[in-house]
Amino acid sequence: MEDPDKITTPSPLEEDQSQYSLRPRFFREYIGQVEMKENLQVFISSAKGRGQSLDHVLLHGPPGLGKTTMAHLIANEMGRPLKSTSGPVIEKQGDLAAILTSLEPGQVLFIDEIHRMSRVVEEVLYSAMEDFKLDIMIGQGPSARTLKLDLPPFTLVGATTRTGLLSSPLRERFGIPLHFGFYSPKELSQIITRSAGILETEIYDDAADQIGRRSRGTPRIANRLLKRARDFADHRSGGVITGQIVNETLERLGVDENGLDRLDRRIIEQIIEGYGGGPVGINTIAASVGEESDTIEDVVEPYLLQIGFLQRTPRGRVVTQKARLALGFAPSADQLGF
Ligand SMILES: Nc1ncnc2c1ncn2[C@@H]1O[C@H](COP(=O)(O)OP(=O)(O)OP(=O)(O)O)[C@@H](O)[C@H]1O
Ligand SMILES: [Mg+2]
Repeated sequence: MEDPDKITTPSPLEEDQSQYSLRPRFFREYIGQVEMKENLQVFISSAKGRGQSLDHVLLHGPPGLGKTTMAHLIANEMGRPLKSTSGPVIEKQGDLAAILTSLEPGQVLFIDEIHRMSRVVEEVLYSAMEDFKLDIMIGQGPSARTLKLDLPPFTLVGATTRTGLLSSPLRERFGIPLHFGFYSPKELSQIITRSAGILETEIYDDAADQIGRRSRGTPRIANRLLKRARDFADHRSGGVITGQIVNETLERLGVDENGLDRLDRRIIEQIIEGYGGGPVGINTIAASVGEESDTIEDVVEPYLLQIGFLQRTPRGRVVTQKARLALGFAPSADQLGF
Protein backbone atom coordinates (compact mmCIF):
# COMPACT_ATOMS: atom_id res chain seq x y z
CA MET A 1 0.00 0.00 0.00
CA GLU A 2 1.03 3.56 -0.60
CA ASP A 3 2.23 4.95 2.74
CA PRO A 4 -0.75 7.13 3.62
CA ASP A 5 1.44 9.65 5.41
CA LYS A 6 4.08 10.00 2.81
CA ILE A 7 5.02 13.56 2.14
CA THR A 8 4.66 13.48 -1.63
CA THR A 9 1.17 12.05 -1.82
CA PRO A 10 -1.07 14.51 -3.66
CA SER A 11 -3.99 13.26 -1.54
CA PRO A 12 -4.86 15.37 1.51
CA LEU A 13 -3.13 14.58 4.79
CA GLU A 14 -4.47 15.60 8.18
CA GLU A 15 -1.94 18.39 8.49
CA ASP A 16 -3.28 19.95 5.29
CA GLN A 17 -6.55 20.67 7.10
CA SER A 18 -4.96 23.55 8.94
CA GLN A 19 -4.17 24.98 5.51
CA TYR A 20 -7.45 26.75 5.10
CA SER A 21 -5.85 30.14 5.21
CA LEU A 22 -3.54 29.14 2.32
CA ARG A 23 -6.54 28.67 0.03
CA PRO A 24 -6.98 31.47 -2.49
CA ARG A 25 -10.51 32.86 -2.19
CA PHE A 26 -10.71 35.07 -5.27
CA PHE A 27 -9.37 34.95 -8.84
CA ARG A 28 -6.76 37.59 -8.12
CA GLU A 29 -5.14 35.30 -5.54
CA TYR A 30 -5.41 32.13 -7.61
CA ILE A 31 -2.11 31.40 -9.35
CA GLY A 32 -1.87 29.44 -12.61
CA GLN A 33 -4.59 27.68 -14.68
CA VAL A 34 -4.60 30.95 -16.60
CA GLU A 35 -6.84 30.00 -19.49
CA MET A 36 -9.40 28.39 -17.20
CA LYS A 37 -9.48 31.49 -15.04
CA GLU A 38 -9.91 33.85 -17.99
CA ASN A 39 -12.79 31.83 -19.40
CA LEU A 40 -14.51 31.50 -16.04
CA GLN A 41 -14.22 35.21 -15.38
CA VAL A 42 -16.06 35.90 -18.63
CA PHE A 43 -18.78 33.31 -17.89
CA ILE A 44 -19.25 34.57 -14.35
CA SER A 45 -19.45 38.23 -15.24
CA SER A 46 -21.95 37.61 -18.03
CA ALA A 47 -24.11 35.38 -15.82
CA LYS A 48 -24.06 38.09 -13.16
CA GLY A 49 -24.84 40.75 -15.79
CA ARG A 50 -27.90 38.80 -16.91
CA GLY A 51 -28.90 38.15 -13.32
CA GLN A 52 -28.81 34.41 -13.97
CA SER A 53 -27.12 31.49 -12.28
CA LEU A 54 -23.85 30.29 -13.79
CA ASP A 55 -24.04 27.23 -16.04
CA HIS A 56 -23.03 23.91 -14.39
CA VAL A 57 -19.28 23.42 -14.05
CA LEU A 58 -17.33 20.15 -14.10
CA LEU A 59 -13.82 20.32 -12.60
CA HIS A 60 -11.55 17.42 -13.43
CA GLY A 61 -7.89 16.60 -12.97
CA PRO A 62 -5.41 14.85 -10.66
CA PRO A 63 -5.61 15.32 -6.86
CA GLY A 64 -4.23 18.43 -5.17
CA LEU A 65 -4.43 20.79 -8.16
CA GLY A 66 -7.10 23.11 -6.79
CA LYS A 67 -10.54 21.71 -7.71
CA THR A 68 -12.12 22.21 -4.27
CA THR A 69 -10.44 25.61 -4.04
CA MET A 70 -11.93 26.58 -7.41
CA ALA A 71 -15.43 25.47 -6.35
CA HIS A 72 -15.29 27.80 -3.33
CA LEU A 73 -13.83 30.54 -5.45
CA ILE A 74 -16.64 30.30 -8.02
CA ALA A 75 -19.22 30.75 -5.24
CA ASN A 76 -17.28 33.71 -3.82
CA GLU A 77 -16.98 35.36 -7.22
CA MET A 78 -20.69 34.79 -7.89
CA GLY A 79 -21.39 36.27 -4.47
CA ARG A 80 -23.44 33.19 -3.61
CA PRO A 81 -23.28 30.74 -0.71
CA LEU A 82 -21.76 27.32 -1.37
CA LYS A 83 -23.30 24.08 -0.23
CA SER A 84 -20.82 21.26 -0.20
CA THR A 85 -21.29 17.50 -0.32
CA SER A 86 -19.71 14.50 -1.98
CA GLY A 87 -20.75 11.61 -4.21
CA PRO A 88 -20.28 8.76 -1.72
CA VAL A 89 -22.28 10.58 0.99
CA ILE A 90 -25.44 10.80 -1.13
CA GLU A 91 -26.73 7.27 -0.81
CA LYS A 92 -30.38 7.52 -1.81
CA GLN A 93 -32.46 9.57 -4.25
CA GLY A 94 -34.20 11.07 -1.21
CA ASP A 95 -30.87 12.38 0.16
CA LEU A 96 -30.22 14.26 -3.05
CA ALA A 97 -33.84 15.47 -3.24
CA ALA A 98 -33.50 16.91 0.27
CA ILE A 99 -30.34 18.78 -0.73
CA LEU A 100 -31.81 20.12 -3.97
CA THR A 101 -35.07 21.32 -2.41
CA SER A 102 -33.18 23.19 0.30
CA LEU A 103 -31.13 25.28 -2.15
CA GLU A 104 -31.60 29.02 -2.29
CA PRO A 105 -32.01 30.66 -5.72
CA GLY A 106 -28.62 31.04 -7.40
CA GLN A 107 -26.83 28.91 -4.83
CA VAL A 108 -23.75 26.89 -5.80
CA LEU A 109 -23.96 23.18 -5.01
CA PHE A 110 -20.55 21.49 -4.91
CA ILE A 111 -20.47 17.71 -5.29
CA ASP A 112 -16.95 16.39 -4.78
CA GLU A 113 -16.04 12.94 -6.14
CA ILE A 114 -19.11 13.11 -8.30
CA HIS A 115 -18.04 9.94 -10.15
CA ARG A 116 -18.76 7.97 -6.96
CA MET A 117 -22.49 8.70 -6.95
CA SER A 118 -24.69 5.70 -7.76
CA ARG A 119 -26.44 5.66 -11.12
CA VAL A 120 -29.89 5.65 -9.49
CA VAL A 121 -29.08 8.78 -7.49
CA GLU A 122 -27.39 10.36 -10.47
CA GLU A 123 -30.59 10.11 -12.53
CA VAL A 124 -32.27 12.61 -10.22
CA LEU A 125 -29.67 15.13 -11.31
CA TYR A 126 -30.57 14.94 -15.01
CA SER A 127 -33.85 16.90 -14.87
CA ALA A 128 -32.61 18.99 -11.95
CA MET A 129 -29.63 20.20 -13.98
CA GLU A 130 -31.48 20.58 -17.25
CA ASP A 131 -34.84 22.08 -16.29
CA PHE A 132 -34.49 22.80 -12.55
CA LYS A 133 -37.15 20.19 -11.90
CA LEU A 134 -37.18 17.41 -9.39
CA ASP A 135 -38.78 14.27 -10.70
CA ILE A 136 -38.61 11.23 -8.41
CA MET A 137 -40.61 8.15 -7.45
CA ILE A 138 -41.58 7.87 -3.81
CA GLY A 139 -42.88 4.78 -2.11
CA GLN A 140 -43.00 1.28 -3.56
CA GLY A 141 -45.50 -1.08 -5.17
CA PRO A 142 -49.13 0.07 -5.67
CA SER A 143 -48.70 3.12 -3.43
CA ALA A 144 -45.72 4.40 -5.42
CA ARG A 145 -46.17 7.78 -7.05
CA THR A 146 -44.01 10.33 -8.77
CA LEU A 147 -43.19 13.60 -7.15
CA LYS A 148 -42.54 16.59 -9.37
CA LEU A 149 -41.29 19.86 -7.95
CA ASP A 150 -39.83 23.06 -9.33
CA LEU A 151 -36.38 23.85 -8.03
CA PRO A 152 -34.76 27.25 -7.74
CA PRO A 153 -32.11 27.89 -10.41
CA PHE A 154 -28.73 26.77 -9.07
CA THR A 155 -25.22 26.02 -10.27
CA LEU A 156 -23.88 22.52 -9.85
CA VAL A 157 -20.09 22.33 -9.54
CA GLY A 158 -18.90 18.72 -9.78
CA ALA A 159 -15.33 17.59 -9.16
CA THR A 160 -13.68 14.35 -10.19
CA THR A 161 -10.21 12.93 -10.62
CA ARG A 162 -11.54 10.57 -13.30
CA THR A 163 -13.86 11.82 -16.03
CA GLY A 164 -13.68 8.39 -17.59
CA LEU A 165 -15.90 7.05 -14.81
CA LEU A 166 -18.60 9.66 -15.34
CA SER A 167 -21.62 8.48 -17.32
CA SER A 168 -22.11 10.37 -20.56
CA PRO A 169 -25.64 11.65 -19.73
CA LEU A 170 -24.20 13.30 -16.64
CA ARG A 171 -21.08 14.60 -18.35
CA GLU A 172 -23.11 16.14 -21.16
CA ARG A 173 -25.18 18.21 -18.73
CA PHE A 174 -22.23 20.30 -17.67
CA GLY A 175 -22.06 23.43 -19.82
CA ILE A 176 -18.56 24.31 -18.56
CA PRO A 177 -16.13 21.39 -18.36
CA LEU A 178 -12.72 22.46 -17.03
CA HIS A 179 -9.55 20.40 -16.98
CA PHE A 180 -6.78 21.02 -14.44
CA GLY A 181 -3.24 20.53 -15.69
CA PHE A 182 -0.09 20.34 -13.57
CA TYR A 183 1.43 23.68 -12.54
CA SER A 184 4.74 24.90 -13.93
CA PRO A 185 7.73 25.17 -11.54
CA LYS A 186 7.44 28.95 -11.85
CA GLU A 187 3.77 29.00 -10.85
CA LEU A 188 4.51 26.71 -7.92
CA SER A 189 7.31 29.00 -6.85
CA GLN A 190 4.81 31.89 -6.79
CA ILE A 191 2.35 29.79 -4.79
CA ILE A 192 5.10 28.97 -2.29
CA THR A 193 6.14 32.60 -1.95
CA ARG A 194 2.52 33.57 -1.35
CA SER A 195 2.02 30.77 1.21
CA ALA A 196 5.27 31.68 3.00
CA GLY A 197 3.94 35.23 3.31
CA ILE A 198 0.72 33.97 4.91
CA LEU A 199 2.74 31.72 7.25
CA GLU A 200 4.97 34.72 8.07
CA THR A 201 8.06 32.77 7.09
CA GLU A 202 10.99 34.22 5.19
CA ILE A 203 12.06 32.23 2.12
CA TYR A 204 14.77 33.02 -0.42
CA ASP A 205 13.80 33.07 -4.10
CA ASP A 206 16.12 30.20 -5.01
CA ALA A 207 14.62 28.14 -2.19
CA ALA A 208 11.07 28.77 -3.45
CA ASP A 209 12.19 27.85 -6.99
CA GLN A 210 13.78 24.69 -5.69
CA ILE A 211 10.56 23.55 -3.98
CA GLY A 212 8.61 24.58 -7.08
CA ARG A 213 10.69 22.25 -9.25
CA ARG A 214 10.31 19.34 -6.88
CA SER A 215 6.58 19.35 -6.00
CA ARG A 216 5.23 17.17 -8.83
CA GLY A 217 3.39 20.12 -10.38
CA THR A 218 1.01 20.04 -7.40
CA PRO A 219 0.21 22.98 -5.07
CA ARG A 220 -0.85 20.71 -2.20
CA ILE A 221 2.59 19.05 -2.22
CA ALA A 222 4.35 22.42 -2.63
CA ASN A 223 2.64 23.82 0.47
CA ARG A 224 3.47 20.70 2.44
CA LEU A 225 7.15 20.74 1.47
CA LEU A 226 7.27 24.42 2.39
CA LYS A 227 6.01 23.60 5.88
CA ARG A 228 8.57 20.85 6.35
CA ALA A 229 11.37 23.14 5.17
CA ARG A 230 10.11 25.72 7.66
CA ASP A 231 10.43 23.13 10.45
CA PHE A 232 14.06 22.51 9.51
CA ALA A 233 14.71 26.22 9.13
CA ASP A 234 13.38 26.89 12.63
CA HIS A 235 16.04 24.56 13.99
CA ARG A 236 18.92 25.45 11.75
CA SER A 237 18.89 28.93 10.32
CA GLY A 238 16.81 31.10 12.59
CA GLY A 239 13.66 30.42 10.61
CA VAL A 240 14.86 31.61 7.19
CA ILE A 241 14.33 29.06 4.41
CA THR A 242 17.42 28.97 2.21
CA GLY A 243 18.23 26.83 -0.82
CA GLN A 244 20.53 24.77 1.37
CA ILE A 245 17.74 24.09 3.89
CA VAL A 246 15.40 23.00 1.09
CA ASN A 247 18.01 20.62 -0.29
CA GLU A 248 18.57 19.03 3.07
CA THR A 249 14.86 18.81 3.85
CA LEU A 250 14.01 17.12 0.56
CA GLU A 251 16.94 14.76 0.77
CA ARG A 252 15.81 13.61 4.20
CA LEU A 253 12.28 13.13 2.91
CA GLY A 254 13.48 11.00 0.00
CA VAL A 255 12.36 13.48 -2.66
CA ASP A 256 14.87 13.56 -5.52
CA GLU A 257 15.95 16.29 -7.96
CA ASN A 258 12.92 15.63 -10.17
CA GLY A 259 10.48 15.59 -7.28
CA LEU A 260 10.19 11.82 -7.49
CA ASP A 261 9.84 9.74 -4.34
CA ARG A 262 10.73 6.15 -3.54
CA LEU A 263 7.54 4.70 -5.03
CA ASP A 264 8.02 6.52 -8.35
CA ARG A 265 11.58 5.30 -8.55
CA ARG A 266 10.60 1.77 -7.59
CA ILE A 267 8.01 1.67 -10.37
CA ILE A 268 10.49 2.84 -12.98
CA GLU A 269 13.18 0.46 -11.73
CA GLN A 270 10.75 -2.48 -11.76
CA ILE A 271 9.72 -1.82 -15.34
CA ILE A 272 13.36 -1.61 -16.43
CA GLU A 273 14.73 -4.51 -14.40
CA GLY A 274 11.74 -6.84 -14.49
CA TYR A 275 10.25 -6.12 -17.90
CA GLY A 276 13.05 -4.78 -20.06
CA GLY A 277 11.63 -1.27 -19.90
CA GLY A 278 8.14 -2.32 -21.03
CA PRO A 279 5.59 -2.33 -22.50
CA VAL A 280 3.97 -3.76 -19.39
CA GLY A 281 0.38 -3.57 -18.17
CA ILE A 282 -0.65 -1.38 -15.24
CA ASN A 283 -1.91 -4.36 -13.21
CA THR A 284 1.40 -6.16 -13.55
CA ILE A 285 3.28 -3.05 -12.43
CA ALA A 286 0.92 -2.62 -9.50
CA ALA A 287 1.39 -6.22 -8.38
CA SER A 288 5.15 -6.06 -8.66
CA VAL A 289 5.43 -2.98 -6.43
CA GLY A 290 2.63 -4.09 -4.07
CA GLU A 291 0.33 -1.16 -4.81
CA GLU A 292 -3.29 -0.74 -5.94
CA SER A 293 -3.51 -0.21 -9.68
CA ASP A 294 -6.04 2.61 -9.11
CA THR A 295 -3.51 4.45 -6.96
CA ILE A 296 -0.88 4.10 -9.64
CA GLU A 297 -3.22 5.19 -12.38
CA ASP A 298 -4.78 8.18 -10.54
CA VAL A 299 -2.02 9.39 -8.30
CA VAL A 300 1.44 8.25 -9.38
CA GLU A 301 1.35 7.85 -13.14
CA PRO A 302 -0.10 11.21 -14.32
CA TYR A 303 3.00 13.09 -13.23
CA LEU A 304 5.41 10.52 -14.68
CA LEU A 305 3.58 10.84 -18.00
CA GLN A 306 3.61 14.63 -17.77
CA ILE A 307 7.40 14.86 -17.31
CA GLY A 308 7.97 12.32 -20.06
CA PHE A 309 9.35 9.52 -17.87
CA LEU A 310 6.63 7.08 -18.84
CA GLN A 311 4.69 6.59 -22.02
CA ARG A 312 1.35 4.90 -22.51
CA THR A 313 1.11 2.57 -25.45
CA PRO A 314 -1.73 0.23 -26.43
CA ARG A 315 0.37 -2.66 -25.07
CA GLY A 316 1.23 -1.04 -21.74
CA ARG A 317 3.59 1.42 -20.10
CA VAL A 318 7.08 2.07 -21.42
CA VAL A 319 9.96 3.75 -19.58
CA THR A 320 11.54 6.50 -21.67
CA GLN A 321 15.17 7.24 -22.37
CA LYS A 322 14.81 10.42 -20.34
CA ALA A 323 13.81 8.44 -17.24
CA ARG A 324 16.70 5.98 -17.74
CA LEU A 325 19.19 8.83 -17.85
CA ALA A 326 17.67 10.63 -14.86
CA LEU A 327 17.74 7.50 -12.73
CA GLY A 328 21.22 6.45 -13.75
CA PHE A 329 20.37 3.51 -16.02
CA ALA A 330 22.13 2.72 -19.28
CA PRO A 331 20.14 3.73 -22.37
CA SER A 332 18.14 0.86 -23.83
CA ALA A 333 19.46 -0.75 -26.98
CA ASP A 334 16.33 -0.38 -29.11
CA GLN A 335 15.98 3.25 -28.14
CA LEU A 336 19.51 3.79 -29.44
CA GLY A 337 18.30 2.38 -32.73
CA PHE A 338 20.11 -1.00 -32.67
N1 LIG B 1 -4.00 27.94 -7.90
C1 LIG B 1 -3.63 27.86 -6.63
N2 LIG B 1 -2.97 28.88 -6.05
C2 LIG B 1 -2.58 28.77 -4.76
N3 LIG B 1 -2.80 27.69 -3.97
C3 LIG B 1 -3.46 26.65 -4.49
C4 LIG B 1 -3.92 26.70 -5.84
N4 LIG B 1 -4.54 25.54 -6.10
C5 LIG B 1 -4.49 24.81 -4.98
N5 LIG B 1 -3.84 25.47 -3.99
C6 LIG B 1 -3.52 24.95 -2.66
O1 LIG B 1 -3.45 23.52 -2.74
C7 LIG B 1 -4.30 22.90 -1.81
C8 LIG B 1 -5.01 21.75 -2.48
O2 LIG B 1 -6.00 22.23 -3.37
P1 LIG B 1 -7.47 21.57 -3.43
O3 LIG B 1 -7.87 21.00 -2.12
O4 LIG B 1 -8.37 22.58 -4.03
O5 LIG B 1 -7.19 20.39 -4.46
P2 LIG B 1 -8.21 19.35 -5.13
O6 LIG B 1 -7.96 19.40 -6.60
O7 LIG B 1 -9.58 19.61 -4.65
O8 LIG B 1 -7.68 17.96 -4.57
P3 LIG B 1 -8.50 16.56 -4.38
O9 LIG B 1 -8.61 15.93 -5.74
O10 LIG B 1 -7.63 15.75 -3.47
O11 LIG B 1 -9.82 16.90 -3.76
C9 LIG B 1 -5.23 23.99 -1.30
O12 LIG B 1 -5.42 23.89 0.09
C10 LIG B 1 -4.56 25.31 -1.63
O13 LIG B 1 -3.90 25.80 -0.48
MG1 LIG C 1 -10.82 18.43 -3.41
